[in-house]
Amino acid sequence: MTDIRNPQNWSLETKQLHIGQEQADPATDARAVPIYATASYVFHDAQHAADRFGLRDPGNIYSRLTNPTVEIFEKRIAALEGGSAAVAAASGAAAITYTFQALAKAGEHIVASKTIYGGTYNLLAHTLPLSAGIETTFVDPDEEGSFENAIRENTKAIFIEALGNPNSNLIDIEAVAAVAHSHGIPLVIDATFATPVLIRPINMARISLCIPPPSSSTDTEPRSAAWSLKRESLTGRHPENIRGFPIPTRAITAFPLRMRSDRLPL
Ligand SMILES: Cc1ncc(COP(=O)(O)O)c(C=O)c1O
Repeated sequence: MTDIRNPQNWSLETKQLHIGQEQADPATDARAVPIYATASYVFHDAQHAADRFGLRDPGNIYSRLTNPTVEIFEKRIAALEGGSAAVAAASGAAAITYTFQALAKAGEHIVASKTIYGGTYNLLAHTLPLSAGIETTFVDPDEEGSFENAIRENTKAIFIEALGNPNSNLIDIEAVAAVAHSHGIPLVIDATFATPVLIRPINMARISLCIPPPSSSTDTEPRSAAWSLKRESLTGRHPENIRGFPIPTRAITAFPLRMRSDRLPL
């Protein structure tokens, strides 16, 4: 018989209500997620601090890095998307920027669909080449073989949108994923215009990483976004870039975002 206490067996509707907050708040027994609006955390003694900074104790150090309110939102998004973990950023643009910074470094290359959001186009066409030395080739997603033909030895990511902005064009995600993964390259998907109710690109064959849409789908200000990723997708790449992570989602923002993620199917 199916064990309904195992979150792996929960439906999307159950996950969206409970994942990340299976127990009431351990400090206060509050049923609602408390907003831990703190920048820092108190260490019990010098050894405790040393263990936290040495990552031997996985607890909180500083809210720009981890925060209990944000963590619940991140766990919720990861569960809804089907990822291993999520990292919440203060905006979609921040999430996309950090994704590319984690995957590529100066002298490396990205292949992107040309049917993408203008802000992301600007990042890839101008900001990353000028500031980071990362070059992008834009391809027509409707032209057969265009993604594969643009791949070079130094290509570190292929980027598409699940529903292109502004055209709402559809790309054969499985076909692009097959090309990407036959070359050992992660496929990055911005799924801003869908929700995990409609599409979970990370669950489709071999897709590594996606940027889900708590901002657009839940219409919350200030906007925010979270990566949802498969554990293996950053192996051997540049995860140390994430450690600095300057633009996280704040606890005060994660709270309404998490609340609104309760209602995605509506
Ligand atoms: C497809 C897509 N991706 C990313 C973004 C950037 O999101 P944000 O404005 O939260 O940085 C947008 C914004 O409209 C978008 O439409």
